[in-house]
Amino acid sequence: MTVYIPKLPEEAPFSAAQRAWLNGYFAGMMGGDTGEAAAAPVVAEEDFPWHDPAFDLDDRLAMAKDRALPRRLMAAMAQLDCGQCGYLCQTYGEAIASGAEKSLGKCVPGGKETSKALRALMAEAPAVAPTAIKAEAAHPPGRLIAEAVFKGATPLNGAGSAKDTRHVVFDLSGTGLDYRPGDAFGLYAPVDPALVDAVVAALGSVPSQMVERDSREMPLRDMLSTTLDIARPGDSVVETMMKHAARPEDREGLAKILDGAADAPLADPDLLDLLLKFPSVRPPLDELLASLEELQPRLYSIASSPRAHEGEVHLTIGVVRYRRNDRARQGVASTFLAERHPPGARLRCFVQPAHGFRLPDDLSKPVIMIGPGTGIAPFRAFLEERRATQAPGKNWLFFGDQHEACDFIYRDEIEAFQADGTLTRLDLAFSRDGAKKIYVQDRMREAGAELWAWLNDGAHVYVCGDASRMARDVDAALREIVAAHGNMDEAAAKAFVQKLGADKRYQRDVY
Ligand SMILES: Cc1cc2nc3c(=O)[nH]c(=O)nc-3n(C[C@H](O)[C@H](O)[C@H](O)COP(=O)(O)OP(=O)(O)OC[C@H]3O[C@@H](n4cnc5c(N)ncnc54)[C@H](O)[C@@H]3O)c2cc1C
Ligand SMILES: NC(=O)c1ccc[n+]([C@@H]2O[C@H](COP(=O)([O-])OP(=O)(O)OC[C@H]3O[C@@H](n4cnc5c(N)ncnc54)[C@H](OP(=O)(O)O)[C@@H]3O)[C@@H](O)[C@H]2O)c1
Repeated sequence: MTVYIPKLPEEAPFSAAQRAWLNGYFAGMMGGDTGEAAAAPVVAEEDFPWHDPAFDLDDRLAMAKDRALPRRLMAAMAQLDCGQCGYLCQTYGEAIASGAEKSLGKCVPGGKETSKALRALMAEAPAVAPTAIKAEAAHPPGRLIAEAVFKGATPLNGAGSAKDTRHVVFDLSGTGLDYRPGDAFGLYAPVDPALVDAVVAALGSVPSQMVERDSREMPLRDMLSTTLDIARPGDSVVETMMKHAARPEDREGLAKILDGAADAPLADPDLLDLLLKFPSVRPPLDELLASLEELQPRLYSIASSPRAHEGEVHLTIGVVRYRRNDRARQGVASTFLAERHPPGARLRCFVQPAHGFRLPDDLSKPVIMIGPGTGIAPFRAFLEERRATQAPGKNWLFFGDQHEACDFIYRDEIEAFQADGTLTRLDLAFSRDGAKKIYVQDRMREAGAELWAWLNDGAHVYVCGDASRMARDVDAALREIVAAHGNMDEAAAKAFVQKLGADKRYQRDVY
């Protein structure tokens, strides 16, 4: 029998002693131990077939169902390796399985779906022996967190647009932060003070009340704005409220919310929704605060090359605003930068190095970039870099959004890249300008023969933007193009695209 014995990778956020302990623990859990592992044929290079954000959660869990607990937990993550939680998908799963990490709500891109699946997996798992290891690792050693100066968030969309996309600039001078195209930028944004004040009022408290969580004491208002995620209360908040609900109808309503029932009184509530809907349910404050997850930093694909903008980092941010449960809702970080952070003020930030989203080292290789919407961000950086390095390789960009007139963001810059020859080919897909929706993958299919020719010339393909719909459809289109123009059946085309990925010629930065 082949036995997979997971090992913590070197970059996992643990000390040498912790790593040794965890590796021993995993070996033990797999039915061996580190000393005896040699007796079984150990596969050094473990494969993670579920490690693809294009798969649904259920499919990912099914692929991992016969693997050990750390791997099943890994399969529940969003598979982006974005680092937002302070881990990679693999190391977060391992840290939870070992008991070193208690929080099941850190995977921001995976959201509630992921935290629910993690809870279910942990509920089935045999109890983990208590461990002395503390999750010291919210941020991997070596991550430099610095205060960068915010220079502004300029609107990119024109009049009449349904979108509000901003070009955000930070001054990195003196911070020690540096980056390469393909990296992401992380930032710690506080929650909207109006929302915090509404929560404080609904709790019947005052902003200055001193509260404690994890041995940290601070005024309630500060804790709610900078430390805790009140926008995304996990199941444990609802459970805490159920525990303290005296009225059966409140318990029943909360139970329906917990189950995600179609007739639940609230859909995907934030903490304020819950407090307003259940005014007679007020758990003790320390218990309620303990049940909230920590506020996570937000990540943004870097939209600049440092060769073109020395000492600065640029981002392309879609501002999140929507209505839910009869209230206007605002994305924490995107509206903070767009509306509340004054230019000149500082913000805690870090650089999240890319895990496999890099321009080819060989400058002569052709590059194909597919990035509708905010997915354009890293490709602005790539094009600036290719221009600055005078890379002789050809560059092809697929871009699109709703309307050409108001959503063709960075139009002047893109046309300048065309004019100076940096951009060899540009294909645009404005989805709502015609009678029928046109998406980037339609343009890819139309240009299938040429795309196939570029692939044969060694092109590297990059996709950035929406993971759940766009990246999946683009992936399918790529396989269709390979099958049609490379005369392959479906299985061979799939294997061809997989090989592109394995050769690092097909890389995705999706969210
Ligand atoms: C590696 C990586 C790179 C990224 N790069 C970029 C980038 O370049 N540009 C960019 O704009 N974003 C990018 N993101 C996304 C970004 O990190 C944030 O998730 C995004 O800005 C929202 O953060 P927020 O704090 O403003 O909103 P949050 O407070 O986190 O709220 C967002 C949540 O609100 C809900 N929501 C949003 N819209 C709706 C709606 N219409 N209806 C109902 N619910 C809704 C969803 O649950 C969503 O998860 C990236 C993410 C990752 C992981
Ligand atoms: N949670 C939410 O409800 C919500 C809402 C908006 C955005 N977002 C997220 O925010 C991120 C970025 O959004 P964004 O504003 O930059 O861009 P976006 O919403 O992804 O839209 C950019 C362009 O992609 C098109 N598009 C929609 N579905 C597509 C598909 N299956 N294949 C290819 N193209 C498709 C859009 O067309 P049409 O819009 O005309 O279909 C639009 O022209 C994404 O992760 C997105 O999922 C979330």
